[in-house]
Amino acid sequence: IPVSSFALVVFGATGDLARRKLLPAMFQRDVAGQLPDDAHIFGAARARLAEGEFLLLARQAIEEHVPAPERAAASVERFLARLRYVAVEATGEEGWRELAVALASVQDRIIVFYLATGPALFGPICERLARFGLAGGNTRVVVEKPVGRDLASAQAVNTMIGSVFPEERTYRIDHYLGKETVQNLMAFRFANGLFEPLWNAAHIDHVQITVAESLGVEGRAGYYDTAGALRDMVQNHLLQLLCLVAMEPPARLDADAVRDEKLKVLCALEPITEANAAYNVVRGQYRAGASASGPVPGYLEELGLEESPAETFVAIKAGVKNWRWAGVPFYLRTGKRLAARVSEIVITFRAVAHSVFKPSAGPIIANRLVIRLQPDEGVQLWLMIKDPGPGGMRLRQVPLDMSFATAFGLRNPDAYERLVLDVVRGNQTLFMRRDEVEAAWRWIGPILEAWSHPAAEPPKPYTAGTWGPAAAIALIERDGRTWADGG
Ligand code: BG6
Repeated sequence: IPVSSFALVVFGATGDLARRKLLPAMFQRDVAGQLPDDAHIFGAARARLAEGEFLLLARQAIEEHVPAPERAAASVERFLARLRYVAVEATGEEGWRELAVALASVQDRIIVFYLATGPALFGPICERLARFGLAGGNTRVVVEKPVGRDLASAQAVNTMIGSVFPEERTYRIDHYLGKETVQNLMAFRFANGLFEPLWNAAHIDHVQITVAESLGVEGRAGYYDTAGALRDMVQNHLLQLLCLVAMEPPARLDADAVRDEKLKVLCALEPITEANAAYNVVRGQYRAGASASGPVPGYLEELGLEESPAETFVAIKAGVKNWRWAGVPFYLRTGKRLAARVSEIVITFRAVAHSVFKPSAGPIIANRLVIRLQPDEGVQLWLMIKDPGPGGMRLRQVPLDMSFATAFGLRNPDAYERLVLDVVRGNQTLFMRRDEVEAAWRWIGPILEAWSHPAAEPPKPYTAGTWGPAAAIALIERDGRTWADGG
């Protein structure tokens, strides 16, 4: 469905996110025929580039990040014709008047300002947008995560943005919410009657949420070393996934109904305190090891540092203190340079109350529902069956397996394709509200505090290409459970 006419202004247009995600995503939507003929994209960044240089950068971004069969030469030319570039100093005065002049011709449309920059620039950019008369009722602002680096800075950033853009025109992006499979979680939970009666502490033993990456920090060292995995992944992506698993059914699928329910989960998270953080949280940092393509250096060598407190791995035992989830652990883990790229949610049901089988039938393994977010998106329900054949009663575990690729065979659109157009449509359902972001920081805060204590243990080393430090395995195994993928 085409959207109404709009202009997208990307601040940080020469950066990693714009090149890797935003420009390719808009290109894909253009190829799909979803962009109106007069939709324009304005790149804004500090670099004093001529327009031709920016177009070259955009062309290279598309060549690098869009598979060859999906980028016909004519489509690339048509897309590039939509692009403009304005050099703008986010914290200075240069370029703003030029930007205002450039946007004068599109003032009758929806204008989306996408701040693909660090959070320190959100305030200065919003202030200047207001001062140059660019933040009128037809405009919306999109900010990337992480918003702030702790509760106080997030509140300050939100207040600065809020002094220019009201909440209903502010879109805090968490691209995990735009992933097809993450949205499918809502369809799965709320469009099937089968699971809801079982979706509680009486029937679920525990939940695991894993977002494992095989890559390292990939050219974002400056940012990553000041953030670490807790701020980069847990505060946003992992907690959002936890919310979608744990939330009550919203009354309607509209932005505030969904976000109200997610907020309740965040507020019900069992507090991790400075005192119990060492017991419930494991942080790690990778050392030299191997990836699928050969040996890889450790984090410190990669960044050329002697030492760094930045964690590239976190595992947490969390809990949601409410009637539905009392006593059900939520084990979260994420890390870079792990053994595989895999994101999945595993719901393990309680064991059967009593076995009627002889020991020779083998163990009864508790049912598991695996929601694979990436790669190989799909849903598996692991059940016990009788091993076919004449060998008597032997039990075996098999999956009911639904693979998106096999079932639908479609290209899985990137999250940004959906999310940027949702901003144009004015649909905030898949964006984080201010109170959600702040509630997430409130929960994360004591962990950061505990880690910054001078006597705190540094991140535990792990070898690149493994499943993280041994302590992360102990975190779950001391409860008599194991990580689902053998990690
Ligand atoms: C980003 C993080 O938000 O998500 C990155 O800043 C991480 O460090 C990325 O690599 C992972 O996203 P995806 O979509 O590749 O799972």
